Amino acid sequence: MIPFAWLSVALVAVVVVVVYFVYGSFLCGAGYQPSFPSVVARMLELAEVGPTDLLLDPGAGTGAILLRAAEERRARVVGIEIEPIRVLVLRLRRWLSPARSRIEVRWENIFRSDYRPATVVAAFLWPDAMRRLRPIFESQLAPGTRVVSHWHPVPGWNPARVDGERRIFLYRYPECRGGAGTPSD
Ligand SMILES: C[S@@+](CC[C@H](N)C(=O)[O-])C[C@H]1O[C@@H](n2cnc3c(N)ncnc32)[C@H](O)[C@@H]1O
Repeated sequence: MIPFAWLSVALVAVVVVVVYFVYGSFLCGAGYQPSFPSVVARMLELAEVGPTDLLLDPGAGTGAILLRAAEERRARVVGIEIEPIRVLVLRLRRWLSPARSRIEVRWENIFRSDYRPATVVAAFLWPDAMRRLRPIFESQLAPGTRVVSHWHPVPGWNPARVDGERRIFLYRYPECRGGAGTPSD
């Protein structure tokens, strides 16, 4: 029989790993929570992602948005992730994907990334990360870029479309910086 002490150590180890995996990256800007498939589908639909797009996914997690955009929408995609275990998972999923030639995975900090080539930015991050990303987007995004964010809006920007049920905000840059109105679906 396994002694109680060993069971306790194993349990504590599991809790530590789970807490690290989910919350560790909070120190960098956002914890981990994968987007639901229905949310991803709606994000890609609202942003009208297609084969001519280059989609950047800051905080790509384990690839819920990234893989789907490449496989179903045939977009070229770049996933940016800081947490090393998730980077490994992303690289493994890329290697296994039939769309691997369209997928790039960067082990990188989203606040130091280059967003200039993007035609679409698709994010599911935390409020403070959205606040910090706004000036970076405003200094880098090309006119015509769509930014689609799940749950947290880009503070101070006016969305072109809002899916209130799933909390998805679509922005068209640079129009989102001025004007009024937040049309909902
Ligand atoms: C809420 S999860 C979203 C995952 C994925 N995009 C999805 O929708 O399923 C946010 C991700 O951002 C990553 N992250 C947090 N801060 C980061 C930073 N400064 N640079 C890169 N990635 C970061 C976390 O490690 C986590 O995987």
